[in-house]
Amino acid sequence: MFKAPRGTSDILPQEKAYWRYIEGKAVYLCQLYGYQPLNTPVFEDYQLFAHTAPDGADIIKEMYVFEDKSGQKLALTAEGTAPICRAYLEHGLFNLPQPVKLYYIIPAFRYERPQAGRYRQHHQFGVEAIGDADPALDAEVIELMYRFLSSLGLSGLFIEINSIGCRKCQPDYVEALKKYYSPFWDRLCPDCKVRLARNPLRLLDCKEVSCQEIITGAPKITDYLCSECQIHFQSVQKYLTALGITYQLNHRIVRGLDYYTRTVFEVKPEGKGVQIALGGGGRYDNLIEELGGKPTPAVGFAAGIERIIIALKNQNVIVPALPKPVAYVAYLGTQAKLEATKLVSRLRHQGIAAIQATGDKSLKSQLRQANSLDVKYTIIIGEKEVANETAVLRDMSSGEQETVPLSEVASLLEKR
Ligand code: HAM
Repeated sequence: MFKAPRGTSDILPQEKAYWRYIEGKAVYLCQLYGYQPLNTPVFEDYQLFAHTAPDGADIIKEMYVFEDKSGQKLALTAEGTAPICRAYLEHGLFNLPQPVKLYYIIPAFRYERPQAGRYRQHHQFGVEAIGDADPALDAEVIELMYRFLSSLGLSGLFIEINSIGCRKCQPDYVEALKKYYSPFWDRLCPDCKVRLARNPLRLLDCKEVSCQEIITGAPKITDYLCSECQIHFQSVQKYLTALGITYQLNHRIVRGLDYYTRTVFEVKPEGKGVQIALGGGGRYDNLIEELGGKPTPAVGFAAGIERIIIALKNQNVIVPALPKPVAYVAYLGTQAKLEATKLVSRLRHQGIAAIQATGDKSLKSQLRQANSLDVKYTIIIGEKEVANETAVLRDMSSGEQETVPLSEVASLLEKR
């Protein structure tokens, strides 16, 4: 028997209620905040992602890379920001009034070790506001992410923010961090030994118990910010306060991707143990330039839909069920089947969701199916009803039955 590949899963109809609910809120809020939808392909030129991260970065190691029949090296989309920036440049969106505000709901692929909340295919709802360095925009994006998650009914969410500086001030901090870490070399976990050489900021993100004590004493990046970055970070906080958004400063938030500058943030659900982020993002003021565009500041976030569903279930949030069919049309006999077919078609044309029995089953098994579909009404057409041009209308919750003219069934259901 085939199974879905490890780290991926099918989304069964009963799960889809969560997806519709989450996507509905996302689309509604994006419209409210002035973000427009933009869809990018599920695979991109490998170099697009490779360009945005140094060799050995997690995102590069985890990418699904393949060559197509022409020999072009492609990668399944690992995240949404680089493709959106590529589209921004490719379609000349820089010619529009800035910022250009976009959103997306996409699958993302990362070859990670599958565990709860960590999959090889996951889905992200993300927004990107491109072309403006205003700290008010950082605050808007953080507010939007928080409002999205809390409007789903999630409680106990907390926002953590940090600033990781810019090209000018970050190198000084990285030097200080390296200097601080070198005496601890022997005590570092194998991953942190690599991080120290390749990507020191990520040292602060390590979850290994053995590295925690070392992290606690590490210098704080906020003590190394240049005056522009300091002012920007203070302004972001001022706007967040004005918006009534509660946040915590956490100098350990550095994010898993390498394109960030200045503001970075994550939202986590409250609870015991290591909390995994429901969403995160930040500023990436150099990325568009690195992809060949003019210097263009930008900020955005993405939230993981599977992780949100886990949180909704953990918090017992009830989501609206998907709409069910209203009517089930049962029949007995060949002539009745024809009438049933015509009636179902009429119902559907009038916008009444209807299911037609098939397979010439017994009435008992047709009613059993109607029950399991949880329809409001079952309409039964037998030989007698065909002769009289009527149908039996059964209210499935009360069990009451009445005989009505066949031609009036649709208008009757519509009225009710
Ligand atoms: P990210 O933090 O890598 O950021 O991913 C965003 C969200 O996707 C995470 O907070 C998490 O909820 C979810 N996620 C990530 N990896 C997995 C996984 N393996 N399994 C399940 N869920 C996962 C980005 O991707 C950035 N592009 C966000 C951004 C947008 N920054 C600026 N703009």
